[in-house]
Amino acid sequence: MSEEMVIAVPEAVARAAHIDRAKYQAMYARSVSDPEGFWAEHGKRIDWIKPYSKIKEVSYDAEDLHIRWFHDGTLNASANCLDRHLATRGDQTAILWEGDDPNESKAITYRELHAEVSKFANVLKALGVEKGDRVTIYLPMIPEAAVAMLACARVGAIHSVVFGGFSPDSLANRIQDCDSTIVITADEGLRGGRKVPLKKNADAALASCPSCKTCVVVRRTGGAVEMKDGRDHWYHDLMLAASADCPPAEMRAEDPLFILYTSGSTGKPKGVLHTTGGYMVYASMTHEYVFDYKPGEVYWCTADVGWVTGHTYILYGPLANGAITLMFEGVPNYPDASRFWQVVDKHDVNIFYTAPTAIRALMREGEELVKKTSRKSLRLLGSVGEPINPEAWLWYHRVVGDERCPIVDTWWQTETGGILITPLPGATDLKPGSATLPFFGVKPMLVDNDGNVLEGATEGNLCIADSWPGQMRTVYGDHDRFIQTYFSTFKGRYFTGDGCRRDADGYYWITGRVDDVINVSGHRMGTAEVESALVAHSKVAEAAVVGYPHDIKGQGIYAYVTLNVGEEPTEELRKELVQWVRREIGPIASPDLIQWAPALPKTRSGKIMRRILRKIAANEHDQLGDTSTLADPAVVDDLVGNRMNRA
Ligand code: WTA
Repeated sequence: MSEEMVIAVPEAVARAAHIDRAKYQAMYARSVSDPEGFWAEHGKRIDWIKPYSKIKEVSYDAEDLHIRWFHDGTLNASANCLDRHLATRGDQTAILWEGDDPNESKAITYRELHAEVSKFANVLKALGVEKGDRVTIYLPMIPEAAVAMLACARVGAIHSVVFGGFSPDSLANRIQDCDSTIVITADEGLRGGRKVPLKKNADAALASCPSCKTCVVVRRTGGAVEMKDGRDHWYHDLMLAASADCPPAEMRAEDPLFILYTSGSTGKPKGVLHTTGGYMVYASMTHEYVFDYKPGEVYWCTADVGWVTGHTYILYGPLANGAITLMFEGVPNYPDASRFWQVVDKHDVNIFYTAPTAIRALMREGEELVKKTSRKSLRLLGSVGEPINPEAWLWYHRVVGDERCPIVDTWWQTETGGILITPLPGATDLKPGSATLPFFGVKPMLVDNDGNVLEGATEGNLCIADSWPGQMRTVYGDHDRFIQTYFSTFKGRYFTGDGCRRDADGYYWITGRVDDVINVSGHRMGTAEVESALVAHSKVAEAAVVGYPHDIKGQGIYAYVTLNVGEEPTEELRKELVQWVRREIGPIASPDLIQWAPALPKTRSGKIMRRILRKIAANEHDQLGDTSTLADPAVVDDLVGNRMNRA
C-alpha cells in the first residue's frame, strides 16, 4: 500500500460541511495563536448557569502542575444534554436503542429521557447520594446506563462506569479505589444471545467491599438473582415512587464529572478524572465538527459505555448537541455478520463510528454480507481505538461506504476526553491509515527519547505541547501518579505513550504504544496487570506478557510463563491459566498464546529484556539485536526454539 494515496474531499461534502478547508486553516491558526480568545468564544456552545470570565489556567510544570478551564463558570452536564433541548426538540428521539435481539428496539425522546433521568436523580438522592459521591455503574448497553450516568451528573455525583466484561475482582478493585458507596447493575446482560451474570459478579465483588452498602438492580433479562435485604433494590421499584422533578445541581466547571479506569504501563488501572465544563465544551464541539453532525441525523457509535468512546461519543457529545444517538446492546456477528449493516438500514443511520478490529473481523466474512444491505443512508464513517491498517481502511471505504463516505480516523485516549487528531470530513484530504491533522487547539509534537523536539517529516514519541479543555485533570486519589505518568518523561509536555510519524504534508500516522500497554481489539491492557494475574496462580513462578501482531485483534496477548519447580507444563494447565486470567480480570485479558519458559531472558541485574520477548512473539527472532548483556544467552535459544507464533 502506498502511503502516497490521497482521497480528496468530495466537493459536495466540502460545500455542505460545517468546516471546509479554508475555515479549518483559519480556525486552527487562531486556536493555537490565541487560545484564550478562541475558547472564550467556543465555550459558549454550552449553557452555563454562571458564565465564565476565566478561560485557561494551565501549567505543565511538574512543580506546579494544574489544569483549569472556564474555572469560575458554573453549569450542569445533564441540563446541557437534556433540559436545554426540551423547548426545541423535546419530542425528537434522543436515544435510539437497538437490542441484542434484532426484534427489540425502542426510541426514547428527549422529554422522556429528561423525565427518567430526573426520576433516577431523585432515587439517588433518596438513597443518600450527595454531590461529589462516587457511584459505580456496572450495566450492559441498555438505556438505563445512560439514565444512570446522566442522573449522577444531575445531582453532582461522580460516576465510575465499569465495563460489563470485567470480572468481580476488577469491579471490586474499582469500587474500592474510589470509595464508591453504591453500585448500579442489572440482573444479567445480553450479548450475542448469551447471558452475562452481572448481578452475580456484583455480589462477588461486593463481598470484598464492606463500605459499598447499596446496590440498585435493573431487570433486563428476568433471570433469577439473589437480592440481599437492606442492600439490594430493584430499579423499577425505586422509580415507581420517584418524582420527575429534579432541578439540576449547579456545578463548578472544575467539579468532577466522572472517573474512568484505564490501564497504564505499570501497576493497577488508574482512575482517570474528568471535570465538567471543559469536558462538555470539548465533547460537544468535537462531536459536531468531526462527524459534521447536522440536526436530525442518526448517529451511531458502536462502542460500549464502559469505555471512554461510549462516554464522550455515545452520551455526552451527541446529547449535548441534541443528536439522535443509537445505542446498541449486541455484537457485530449476531445473529450473523451483517448485523451492523442491517441496523444501519433499519434505522437509516447517517454516521457510523466503529473500531478497526470490528472492520477486520467483518472483512474476513466477505463482501457479500455487506453488499446484500443498502446502506444508502450512510454519509460518514469513523474509526477509533487503534491504528487502522490501510487494507482495512480501503475495504471500509469501498465496501461499506461505496466510495461515497469519507472516513474519519480519530486518534485520542481516555486521558484526552475527546478526539485530538482527526480529519474533518469537509476540510481534510484523507490518507488511508493516517489520523491526519490536529483538531482545534491541539498542538501535537514529536520528540526523541531525550526529549528533543523533532521538526518536519520524522518519527518520534507523540506529545501534546499545551492543554485543551477536554484533558483529564488528575488520577483519582493520586495526583503524583498523574504527574509521574504524563508529565515527567518529557518535561513540560503531556506524553501520550504513543509513537507517531509525521509525513511531509504534516499528517500524523500513529504507530502504536511505545510503553507496556497493549491494545487488544481496541481495548487497553497493561501487560503488568496480566502478569500479576498469572503469577497469582499457585503453579506459576514468573510471567512476562507482551503484545504481538494479530490479524483481527490488532494485537494479541502473548504470555511467557515459568512454572514452579515440579509443575508439569501440560495442555490442560495452559487452558486452566487462560481461564484463570479471564476470571481474574475478564475475557478481554485472555492470553492468546502461552509459552512455557524454563527461564526468562534477564540482564545481569535481573531486569527482564522485554525487547527480546516482543521480537520472539512477533516471529522476528532473526532480529533480536544485541543479546550480549543477557545473564544467560542460552535462555533465548530455548524460547526461540519453542516459540508459539509461527505465522
Ligand atoms: C490507541 C480510546 C491509532 C492509541 C479512544 C491510544 C489509536 C490508545 C487511535 C487509547 C487511532 C486510539 N489510531 N491508535 N485512531 N485511537 N488509539 O484510552 O494507542 O482506550 O493511546 O482510548 O488507543 O486507548 P483508550
